[in-house]
Amino acid sequence: ARVVALVPAAGRGVRLGAPIPKALVPVCGAPLLVHAVRGLLAAGCVDQVVVAAPPDMVDVVVDALSEFGPTVRVVPGGEERSDSVRLALDEAVAVHPDTRVVLVHDAARCFTPPEVIRGVVDAVRAGAPAVIPVLPVADTVKQVDSEGRVVATPDRSRLRVVQTPQGFDVDLLRRAHDQQDAPVTDDAGLVERLGEPVATVAGHPHALKITTPFDLVVAEALFSGAEL
Ligand code: C5P
Repeated sequence: ARVVALVPAAGRGVRLGAPIPKALVPVCGAPLLVHAVRGLLAAGCVDQVVVAAPPDMVDVVVDALSEFGPTVRVVPGGEERSDSVRLALDEAVAVHPDTRVVLVHDAARCFTPPEVIRGVVDAVRAGAPAVIPVLPVADTVKQVDSEGRVVATPDRSRLRVVQTPQGFDVDLLRRAHDQQDAPVTDDAGLVERLGEPVATVAGHPHALKITTPFDLVVAEALFSGAEL
């Protein structure tokens, strides 16, 4: 396999407030994670998926993903998101040493349209070693201090919100994780610290991250009844 997608899904989903890990929370008739994996495979350019599951729930996750067969592997996740990504990457490379392109995709962005996934893969294949899907920012964004006082107003036209999948040349992603010294919220952040360029492609509103109960309502409204 040349293109592998890593899906960190080992988080608890505290902000969602559900009694089970977020990846297993049902939305539109199936667990979030099942929609996420279906979406990756439906894009037609992903050869292998490696999911990082909550360590105490590996069996449950394997069960939930059994419909996909050996195309989808499950590993126990780690303490932090970046640990989960690293563990999934190790598994992917062990199984497919010829892996060239690695996607890292949040299970929570389970309705990401296939064209976004293909756009990221195409851009990496065309030579960009790190690629992220982005959207323009509708709101004005302020930077505040610890007291909540405004300290800066960045020029909105130059801000973007970042989605997943983020796509990488496999060697660059490994190097980025090897040099990690402090936690970051996304893998492209690690690549930036190496001083390597990160390219952007168009994201999509449907790639929203399901984080809160509000987001679940939005996803149900948008996608229940859609052909999934
Ligand atoms: O917490 P946050 O929303 O940034 O998590 C993003 C993704 O990383 C989620 O899909 C979550 O399941 C995953 N994660 C993980 N391992 C952890 C923590 C979070 O795979 N230890």
